[in-house]
Order: sequence, then structure tokens, then C-alpha cells
Amino acid sequence: MSQGDDPVSGQEERPGGVPALTRRSALQAGAVLAAVPLTGEAVAAPSAYPPPAMPAAPGQTMKLSTTINGRRVEAEIDARTSLLDLLRERLGLTGAKKGCDHGQCGACTVHIDGQRVVSCLTLAAKVDGRRVTTIEGLSDGKRLHPMQQAFIDHDALQCGYCTPGQIMSAVACVQEGHAVSREQIREYMSGNICRCGAYVGIVAAIEQAAGKMGGKA
Ligand code: FES
Ligand code: FES
Repeated sequence: MSQGDDPVSGQEERPGGVPALTRRSALQAGAVLAAVPLTGEAVAAPSAYPPPAMPAAPGQTMKLSTTINGRRVEAEIDARTSLLDLLRERLGLTGAKKGCDHGQCGACTVHIDGQRVVSCLTLAAKVDGRRVTTIEGLSDGKRLHPMQQAFIDHDALQCGYCTPGQIMSAVACVQEGHAVSREQIREYMSGNICRCGAYVGIVAAIEQAAGKMGGKA
């Protein structure tokens, strides 16, 4: 506090008794304003995030008939259910991971009729009458898929959280004919984020598997 500051508020006093705006007082005022909701009413902190889904009302459920990893699945589902939640929460297929739940990371990638999709942004209703493949159904049951083996051979993972989505995307990338060069692999795999930065190994694994799958590289 310098000479001339108000001894109670700590604000600098201008001639005429008007307190000057100091950096500290501006910050204090901002903090108070930020804490006051525009409505003037107290806002209760959310108790859980994300909040639990509202239970389905009558008429919001549907019968689903689909094939998942070669097995017929019949289920009554809430029509708002995402494919990712159906797989993980209802069917116990936890290979596809929930990373962002917003279509931004690729951790939840699965195939529908051979095409890659992010299952967090795909309604389960959309797979009615269609064929879904997840990482659990990629091998033939005895031998790993060449892409799975290549990820092991090239140490293309660290924590492994993104890996099921990377592998499902990589298989589709090769089948689409988008693995003819490293640059192309990088571009067509850009929707799959690896927070551990295992990209060098991932590209090398895709190159190896593409050769075995007949997709060049
Ligand atoms: S969890 Fe689906 S894209 Fe991230
Ligand atoms: S291996 Fe950890 S996020 Fe990719």
C-alpha cells in the first residue's frame, strides 16, 4: 500500500476522495462478477458428468436385429442408444474404446458392412439388418489378423487405449486402397489420434500388413 491508499480498501485514493482503479481491484471485481450468474440465482454444481440418460419413454424403444462378429444379435434398445454404448454397455464388447464420445479421436472405430465408422456417433438403430465387426471379431479365432500381428511386430502402441480403433481403421484403410505410400497412410489414418505418439510404429505396421493383405505399401 503506497502513501495515499485508502487504509480500509487498499485502493489508491485520487484527489477529491475518489478511489482509483488499481490492477488488484479490477481483478477482484472481475472475480466477483464471474461468480454471479446472469439470472442472479445460485447455480447448483452438477453432481455427475455426464448426467445419466433419461429412461426411454414408451415408443422410444425399438427391436434391433443385427449380426455382430458373425453372431446374430436380437435386442430391444432405446432408439437413442449409440452403437458404442450398445457394444460396450449391453453386449460387453469393450474392445472399442470411448475416448472423446464426439467423433474426434477414432478410438471407437468399428466396421459396418466392411466400412469404418466411429461408433460413438452412429446410432445402434442404424445397424439393424447389417453386419458389424469389432476388434474382438477381427481374427479368425486361431490366428491374429495380419494387422494385429503387424502392430505387435512393430511395437505400434504404448498404453494401448487407441489401438483397437487404430487397427480397425488401418484394416479399412488398406481395403480402401489408401495405403500405397506412407504419406497416404498418414492422411487416411489422421482421424485416429494416439496420445502416446506411437505413429512411427503404426505407419510401419500398416505398411507391413498392407503387403500381406494385398494392399500394396
Ligand atoms: S470415442 Fe468415438 S471418436 Fe472418440
Ligand atoms: S498407444 Fe496410447 S494412445 Fe495410442
